[in-house]
Amino acid sequence: MTNTLLKQVGLDQGLPSQFEENAWVEVIQRMDDIYTDLVRYQIELEEKNTELEHAYADLTQAHQDLKDAQRQLIQSEKMASLGRLVAGVAHELNNPISFVFANMHALLSYEQRFRQYLDGVHSNFSVDKREALRKQLRIDRILEDIRPLIEGSMEGAERVSEIVKNLRQFSTPASQKPESFDLVVLCQRTAHWLVRSSALEPELTQIFPETCVIYNYEGYVSQILVNLIQNALDAMENQAKPKLTVHLLTENEWVHVEVQDNGLGIKEADFAKLFDPFYTTKSVGKGTGLGLYISYGLATEHCGGALSARNYYQQGENGAIFRLSLPLKAGANL
Ligand SMILES: Nc1ncnc2c1ncn2[C@@H]1O[C@H](COP(=O)(O)OP(=O)(O)OP(=O)(O)O)[C@@H](O)[C@H]1O
Ligand SMILES: [Mg+2]
Repeated sequence: MTNTLLKQVGLDQGLPSQFEENAWVEVIQRMDDIYTDLVRYQIELEEKNTELEHAYADLTQAHQDLKDAQRQLIQSEKMASLGRLVAGVAHELNNPISFVFANMHALLSYEQRFRQYLDGVHSNFSVDKREALRKQLRIDRILEDIRPLIEGSMEGAERVSEIVKNLRQFSTPASQKPESFDLVVLCQRTAHWLVRSSALEPELTQIFPETCVIYNYEGYVSQILVNLIQNALDAMENQAKPKLTVHLLTENEWVHVEVQDNGLGIKEADFAKLFDPFYTTKSVGKGTGLGLYISYGLATEHCGGALSARNYYQQGENGAIFRLSLPLKAGANL
């Protein structure tokens, strides 16, 4: 390599002195070393680049896995919140269905008595005998009873269909899209069903404006509200006079939904862990500790809002207030 280079730079003609030639040989030797180093660095760089590409691919995969896991968490929490609502719905359906059943049983026995009476009427009974049969079978009572029985059954059936209609509004489509909806209606409906499904029978106070239409992900907002209200109900489990307040207030460009309970509140040391995944003080099977974690993610990352918690002490009472804040105007970031 050195001789070739000497030729290339015209130093193989024997013109330079021995000193100069040595100097040139040294320079060329150095250049040769530098070239070798450069080739080595290039190989190392290529190796590093390949490593980096692998690391990037691993990172992309890990990010994808994380996103999948988060989607699954959201899905399972959604199922849990739907489960809680279904408990309320089952409770609510039971009532009209049981009186429709009772009415149908009464109508069945009336039908038998009518048949008996008509048989008598058509078999040449004397007027006296027919009247006696009419009294015995209490036909007049039946006639008076039939209309309220049918009306009651119709009312029950209407109630059932109303509940089913309500329930349909709860079923969240697989691919969520933001849309316009009345937050007041959603809060009322969620509080109603959860209170119905609870064994607590709390005093429910709802402070709402007439209407508050926002543009957001209704399914996500509903999921957050279910968790906040369910948590409030759970927190009042041992409270003799449980009081649940759902308050909707607007402030500049924001609407806040505050869910207030008169439970034990949150210990100062626990505030930092509140929104952590799997933080729960509930027994196994009762809580997974994912509700607030998921709600926080939904509120901040999907709904363009915020979720916060605080304790309150007023008029000898205390408890916790959770506040969900949502943008009033259709956010460009949704
Ligand atoms: N209103 C509240 N008052 C007092 N503590 C609360 C309240 N809401 C939540 N917490 C505390 O925060 C914890 C975490 O709540 P989170 O909703 O994340 O999970 P969870 O209710 O325990 O389980 P789930 O996954 O079923 O929601 C609760 O276990 C409870 O200790
Ligand atoms: Mg919860």
